[in-house]
Amino acid sequence: MCGIIGCNGVEAAVPVLINGLERMEYRGYDSSGIAVLSQGKIITEKKKGRVAALVKRLEQSTNLDAQIGIGHTRWATHGKPSDENAHPHQSGKFTLVHNGIIENHAELKEQYLKLTKTKSDTDTEIAVHLLNRFYSDNCLEAIAHTVRLLKGSFALAVICEDEPDRLFCVRQASPLVVGIGDGTFAASDTSAISEKIHTLYRMNDGEIAVLSKDSIEFFDFGLNKITKTPDEFEKNSYTADKGNCEHFMLKEIYEQPEAIRKTVDAYLNENVFDLQLKIEKPERFYIVACGSAYHTGLVGRQVFERLTKIPVSVETASEFRYSRPLVNGNTPVIIISQSGETADSLAALREAKKRGAKTVSIVNVKESSIASESDFVLLTKAGPEIAVATTKAYGAQLAALYLLGIYFAEAFGTADKNELEKMKKALTELHKTVSAALGCEELIKEIAQRLKDIDRAYFIGRGLGFAAAAEGSLKLKEISYIHCEAYAAGEMKHGTISLIEKGTTVVAMNTQKELTHKLQSNIDEVRSRGARVIAVTSAESKIDADETITVPEVHPLFAVSTQIVPVQLLSYHIARLRGCDIDKPRNLAKSVTVE
Ligand code: M6R
Repeated sequence: MCGIIGCNGVEAAVPVLINGLERMEYRGYDSSGIAVLSQGKIITEKKKGRVAALVKRLEQSTNLDAQIGIGHTRWATHGKPSDENAHPHQSGKFTLVHNGIIENHAELKEQYLKLTKTKSDTDTEIAVHLLNRFYSDNCLEAIAHTVRLLKGSFALAVICEDEPDRLFCVRQASPLVVGIGDGTFAASDTSAISEKIHTLYRMNDGEIAVLSKDSIEFFDFGLNKITKTPDEFEKNSYTADKGNCEHFMLKEIYEQPEAIRKTVDAYLNENVFDLQLKIEKPERFYIVACGSAYHTGLVGRQVFERLTKIPVSVETASEFRYSRPLVNGNTPVIIISQSGETADSLAALREAKKRGAKTVSIVNVKESSIASESDFVLLTKAGPEIAVATTKAYGAQLAALYLLGIYFAEAFGTADKNELEKMKKALTELHKTVSAALGCEELIKEIAQRLKDIDRAYFIGRGLGFAAAAEGSLKLKEISYIHCEAYAAGEMKHGTISLIEKGTTVVAMNTQKELTHKLQSNIDEVRSRGARVIAVTSAESKIDADETITVPEVHPLFAVSTQIVPVQLLSYHIARLRGCDIDKPRNLAKSVTVE
């Protein structure tokens, strides 16, 4: 949520900043801006809209020859998207960009800045005015003074006209990395600068970094010097390339089989767990995540409970952290997150650790905060996911949960060995079955044509089918803006069925053969009240609906992996026909780093 980029000592700062912003646009895209320090003066350009709009604005600017600068792409929290609210913000000789929320901005204004006129509606602007207020002749001291007063989450990059050779960065509960290459660099996300650096430092909370042209010094908020050792990182030569696809989302749906194959291959036969994941048979597992990752947790619960006979609680991270969770040393907590930076999931991880739980994370980004802070990391191998709506990372997370379920069942001796061998074999073949499921796209296009103008839809399912329905509903609503709800199929008759009328769209996910008859009854109930039902089912489970999408048979516990494919494609094609901005849906961001 919001992307920060900074550089110092580079040949030309503007292209470096723009390149970084383009790479981090997935973090927020309602406005963007840069500030560079050139010939002793800070020049700022910012613009509502995408980075492309900023680039256009920059074409008209002259005199942007600079070696040091900062940039920002925004996801609005305080103040609507506008040129005024876009970052950078300036006061006196200081200009800064910010990611996070300064929770006590109103109190600080009242206490220190009563007479200061603000130009924006942001919480951020207070921070830059405080810098100006506390500054006499030492930038670092003004920064330390200011950040000691701020409450909430903040990653900052600051430049000052009096110190043209230094870039200042701060991290508190919002991600920020810094690195050295041909110059020094700062970014919210390693992948934005990885190609430019040979040395990377992940900043920790409560740290200030001072970036000179070719070296970096670190301090705590009391200005005591800190010695840090560089972190490992992978050079990411990935370029945002849609291949032959019109959108990243479609490309990523098609990359799902590969994401599953790589994740399974990395762990199934490697005994990695045996070496590192020492967990005694627990009294309960917790799975904690947000959004689609939470939906994979709903699948994980059923897989784990079936295989280990140990109860599993699945919690949304934003609730978990404030619910005084009953976790302890005997209740491992599994955190699932594609980005590894989701603020609520990270806070949940820290809460679990504080309460003595062993933590396992399923994460797609190796250098992320969640990966680095958990006791054991299972890295999904989905590769960079650009579309805001997750597809291949979701598929890889499911594979990771299957792997963990099998591992725990083996470790605790809770499942039949032959059954586990069968599952392992099925898991190595899963990518092929998911690939075959993609064969439904032409049928999906026809259905999408019929559904493109609907204004609401219900997704229903039983057991694993409910977990798939929850994800299907989220997928369609987030990219097409159609109002969608997901229900356990048996729950419809307890209230929601009153909303069913002639032509209402219901998508039924039939993942479990043994529950097909029960789901059929629920389908019949809504059809007899006028609903038009589209059923997703596997080849061996016949179901009667207005339209049926059949996917290949797979091990019963893995059914969501194949059945989600048509629903992802359906969401994509409906959104496309409606002319929606599929890869960057309104109001959303890929990495949600605020509460
Ligand atoms: O990076 P994370 O997996 O922690 O993100 C969690 C959710 O924000 C994410 O899954 C979100 O729901 C997706 N946009 C859904 O497609």
